Amino acid sequence: MSWSPSSWRGLKIKQQPEYKDKEKLREVEEELKGFPPLIFAGEARELKERLGQVARGEAILLQGGDCAESFSDFNATNIRELFKVLLQMNMVLMYSSGKPVIKIGRIAGQYAKPRSSEFEKVGKVKLPSYRGDIVNEIEFTPEAREAKPEKLIEAYYKSAATLNLIRAYARGGFADLRKVHQWTLEFLHDNELGQRFEELADKITEALRFMEACGVDPDNTPQLKQTTLYTSHEALLLNYEEALTRRDSFTGEWYDCSAHFLWIGDRTRDLDGAHVEFCRGIQNPIGVKVGPSMEVDELLKLIERLNPKNEAGRLTLIVRMGADKIGKLFPPLLKGVQESGKEVVWSIDPMHGNTYKTEKGLKTRDFEKILAEVKEFFQIHRAYGTVAGGIHLEMTGSDVTECTGSLSASITEDGLHSRYHTQCDPRLNADQALELAFMVAETFKEMKR
Ligand code: PEP
Ligand code: CO
Repeated sequence: MSWSPSSWRGLKIKQQPEYKDKEKLREVEEELKGFPPLIFAGEARELKERLGQVARGEAILLQGGDCAESFSDFNATNIRELFKVLLQMNMVLMYSSGKPVIKIGRIAGQYAKPRSSEFEKVGKVKLPSYRGDIVNEIEFTPEAREAKPEKLIEAYYKSAATLNLIRAYARGGFADLRKVHQWTLEFLHDNELGQRFEELADKITEALRFMEACGVDPDNTPQLKQTTLYTSHEALLLNYEEALTRRDSFTGEWYDCSAHFLWIGDRTRDLDGAHVEFCRGIQNPIGVKVGPSMEVDELLKLIERLNPKNEAGRLTLIVRMGADKIGKLFPPLLKGVQESGKEVVWSIDPMHGNTYKTEKGLKTRDFEKILAEVKEFFQIHRAYGTVAGGIHLEMTGSDVTECTGSLSASITEDGLHSRYHTQCDPRLNADQALELAFMVAETFKEMKR
């Protein structure tokens, strides 16, 4: 089966906008094809190797960020705060597991969204659904909801600027372990969570002091003050992805240079559809969402199609069943994959199966359900002797009120309104995300025992 960056065209494709100005779209695609790649193929290969470690249980995957990045929330504060909470979670997970944590942001390109319906109706007015800032605008007017090709260019530049800042934070001293205490002081909430984080930070400070006494410090050991945050988004708008797909000059292989890691959503994972076709040919590490409708046969065929060489780290299966369903639906899939001998990374997305609408019409998720699904994912893996590789979260570093519950800030349905800012699905705020990391850390400790 031959493949090219455009071999998806002509196949059945779901979740695409209808562009009125086809000529403009073509011009924009040509322009993008001439732009520099956002990532280098060597980085994607390095991530694939690291995910290979995750598949073998030698490292942990932490993937998280907005459901949908937005052009209007594009600023340094949001990027920095997400980076910071990912580093805090990194510390908690690394300290408790004794393993490296591979961090991937849903960032620097997470602009396209699949929607449950093509149209949105308010009263008697029916308009195309909002599909993410790379496609149209969220306001409910005919003008705003029109799909505009120029937005692909804006998404590219905003992704480039975001990635630039991420690289600066990762290498420029922001990730210095000595800062742990500084963040902790900023995080000093007068609650159980704040105390738990402080205790951990104290232990790390002690460990650093001991190492410094041995002559190992962030000044002579760059690993202690640098990190890597890889980028990822859903490979949904294939016109954009194709335009950024380039042949690597070293290996001659094709890489989608819009992000290090791309995933296929639960709604677009048809075996013979355009999204699977596009993703099978790019050599980046990729993911597939595994929702409640997935069957074992279908999953094995998808794995075969997307990872025919059975490379460890190439394919991450992101399970998103819902807390009430995972116990029934996940074990048969896990068993099927285990028996097939296929190498995959298993990750848990406890967000998308646990969404509901409040009486007042706000989309939310209950923190207890999120925790429960993660816990059960780990327990099921333990029962099968397989590797629970990581977690995939919709989260933000800012203090939003979009998901209910948690120990630190028990947000109620009535309280959701106060800081409900998401462009799409409800995210964990920084406290909730960190609390989840502590819970996972407890699981690691139990496993060691
Ligand atoms: C998402 O990750 O934002 C998403 C839409 O997920 P899913 O494809 O699992 O529904
Ligand atoms: Co989402």
